[in-house]
Amino acid sequence: MSRNLDHVAVAGQRVLVRADLNVPVVGGKVADMARLERLAPTIRELSSKNARVIIVSHFDRPQGIIVPAMSLRPVAAALAEVLGHHVAFCEDCIGPLAEQAVAALAPGSVLVLENTRFHPGEETNDIEFSRQLANLADIYVNDAFSVAHRAHASTAGVAKHLPAYAGRLMQEELAALERALGSPERPVAAIVAGSKVSGKLELLANLIAKVDIIVIGGAMANTFLAAQGFHVGKSLQEPDLHATALEILEAARQQGCEIILPTDVVVAEKFAAHGPTQVVSVDAIPPNMMALDVGPATVAAFIHRLPDIKTILWNGPLGAFETKPFDASTNELAEAIAKATEAGQIISVGGGGDTVSALRLAGVHHRMSYLSGAGGAFLEWMEGKLLPGVVVLSEGLSNIG
Ligand code: 3PG
Repeated sequence: MSRNLDHVAVAGQRVLVRADLNVPVVGGKVADMARLERLAPTIRELSSKNARVIIVSHFDRPQGIIVPAMSLRPVAAALAEVLGHHVAFCEDCIGPLAEQAVAALAPGSVLVLENTRFHPGEETNDIEFSRQLANLADIYVNDAFSVAHRAHASTAGVAKHLPAYAGRLMQEELAALERALGSPERPVAAIVAGSKVSGKLELLANLIAKVDIIVIGGAMANTFLAAQGFHVGKSLQEPDLHATALEILEAARQQGCEIILPTDVVVAEKFAAHGPTQVVSVDAIPPNMMALDVGPATVAAFIHRLPDIKTILWNGPLGAFETKPFDASTNELAEAIAKATEAGQIISVGGGGDTVSALRLAGVHHRMSYLSGAGGAFLEWMEGKLLPGVVVLSEGLSNIG
């Protein structure tokens, strides 16, 4: 159990907050405030307790060099809007500029430092870079569950030099995920979908041992269908993963994990909004067509199983949800899961950027038990991996060698 803001007096202290300010920015403007809104309670609490709040974060993947288009400046401005509070910005996250900016902070004020990934030492978890970050502050607060799967200087290294605490969002994510899968009510079903099997192989292999049912949707399902000898026409699939897909099915069979694949799909000649579509059985996909959503019979069959399921984890939309009508199966299943959640029949947890967008578009994001703001970290957590950014919160200073 990691320590949190209840366990530290922050008044007057310099508090280094690792946030995840990696938000969508379009034309220099933040396009989605969700991550900033979820971070706000920690920053407000620290500020109202008169801490000197120093926020560090990565933004995008500049690979250790300064890329002006990946500056956190516009994000700092958006954070100020969300907080309704002035937020200062400094063009570096270490060195004399950062030191001066921190020295100028009055109790209660908030500063955002420039992208940590402009320095190569961030991603290599360089000890000297970690020390320079740590020297700016008295206390470290990690509020970035969504980047806790990275063992970087600002997510892990710095915790070896400062007393470390979980922020409120980190605390909320860990508690909610632990409730759902720590000792979940069984049977547990996982919906694993999305475009590529390759990105989720490890997830599938690890989930087989943890859950009772796995529903595979999205283009990933095409690879499984093709591996079993179905002709999938022009559908997106990964032929070089057919053998792996068959191995996953065999491992699931041996371990008593049921895998549900589509029995019908929605096909179209072209991937375009509102074009002509057909629903066909998976053994009748025309050679000139591609599957873009799972079909209504598949969704109905899974909805029929819901009363037997107690916990559902969802990662990946079932179809190409951003283009209508290929959002239909995701919407229908989302509605059924939301109703079962509201009726107290199941615990439902979703995570991942696309999944959260799809559930938001389906109008159910407030009706699930919990939606994680994390993508990669949520997947690694589902796999049962230890996340370095979480581990250091319990180890903290005991690690200093
Ligand atoms: C995310 O958006 O998932 C996190 O900010 C992590 O970003 P990364 O995959 O570039 O480390």
